[in-house]
Amino acid sequence: MRTSPLRILITGASRGIGREIAIQLLDAGHSVAITARNLIDLKAVVAGRSNKTLTIVADSTDPDSGESTIKEINANWGGLDVLIINAGDGAAAPIEKTTNEIWENSIALNLTAPFQYIRATVPLMKAAKFGRIIVIASTAGLEGEPNVCAYTAAKHGVIGLVRSAAAELEKYGITVNAVCPSYVDTPMTQRSLQAAASRTGKDFDEVKSLLLAKLPGGRLLTPQEVAQVAISFIDQPEKNGLAQIVKGD
Ligand SMILES: NC(=O)c1ccc[n+]([C@@H]2O[C@H](COP(=O)([O-])OP(=O)(O)OC[C@H]3O[C@@H](n4cnc5c(N)ncnc54)[C@H](OP(=O)(O)O)[C@@H]3O)[C@@H](O)[C@H]2O)c1
Repeated sequence: MRTSPLRILITGASRGIGREIAIQLLDAGHSVAITARNLIDLKAVVAGRSNKTLTIVADSTDPDSGESTIKEINANWGGLDVLIINAGDGAAAPIEKTTNEIWENSIALNLTAPFQYIRATVPLMKAAKFGRIIVIASTAGLEGEPNVCAYTAAKHGVIGLVRSAAAELEKYGITVNAVCPSYVDTPMTQRSLQAAASRTGKDFDEVKSLLLAKLPGGRLLTPQEVAQVAISFIDQPEKNGLAQIVKGD
C-alpha cells in the first residue's frame, strides 16, 4: 500500500454507494475528488472535512467528461492513485419497449464512460507505476434478469472492459477490478421499485416485498457493505481482473 493520503477519484459520489465510498475514504484521511451533475449535493458530501477535496460537476455521459475531469485532478494534485467508477443507472423496460434512447443512455453511462475515464487515467498511473481502478458493476453484469436488457448488456460489457484492462495493465503495477452487488438500499433502488410499482399497478410495499423474497438473505445490501468491498481492492495488489459478487447472505 502506498503511503497515505492517496489521491482518489469517485464518479457519481453525491449519494448512494458513491457517497458512502467517499465518506469512508475521507474518514481514512485520503484526498478525495468526487463527481456528479449537482454541485450542491457534491459540496454536502465534503462539507466540514479537512482532507484535500475536489468537487467536480461532470456528466459522465458527456464524451469529454473523463478527459476533462482527469485533467483537472492532475492539474491540482499532479496524479491520481485510485479511480473508482461508480456513476451508473438503469431504466427498466421489456425489450420491445426499450427505446433507442434507453439503450444508448445505458451504454453511454454504464459502459462508454468507464472506458473514457480509464483511458484518461491510464497514462498517469503508468507513469507512476501504480494504480487501482475499481468499477461498481452489478450482478446484472454476470447474470440475466428480465426487463433490464440495456442495463444488463452495459454491465456485462463493463466487466469485459475490466478484465481486458486488468490483463493489459498488470505489468505497470495497476490493478483493475469490478464489484458486483445485488440490490442495494439507495435512491436508485427506490426509483426502480417505484417504476416497477407503476408498471405493474401494484403498490410500492408489495413490489418491495416481492423483490426482498427473491434476494439472498431476504434483504437489500447497505451502501456501507458495498463500499467496504470496493475499498478493499486498494490494499490487495494480488487481486486483479475480478468481478467480486456482493450478496446479502
Ligand atoms: N442500487 C443498486 O441496487 C445497485 C446494484 C448494483 C449495482 N449498482 C451500481 O452502483 C452504482 C451506484 O448506484 P446507486 O444505487 O448508488 O445510485 P444512485 O443512488 O442513483 O446514485 C448515483 C450517483 O451517480 C450520479 N450520477 C448519475 N448519473 C450521472 C451522470 N450521468 N454523470 C455523473 N454522475 C451521475 C448521481 O448524482 P447526479 O444525479 O447528481 O449526477 C449520484 O451521485 C451504479 O453504477 C449502479 O449501476 C447499484
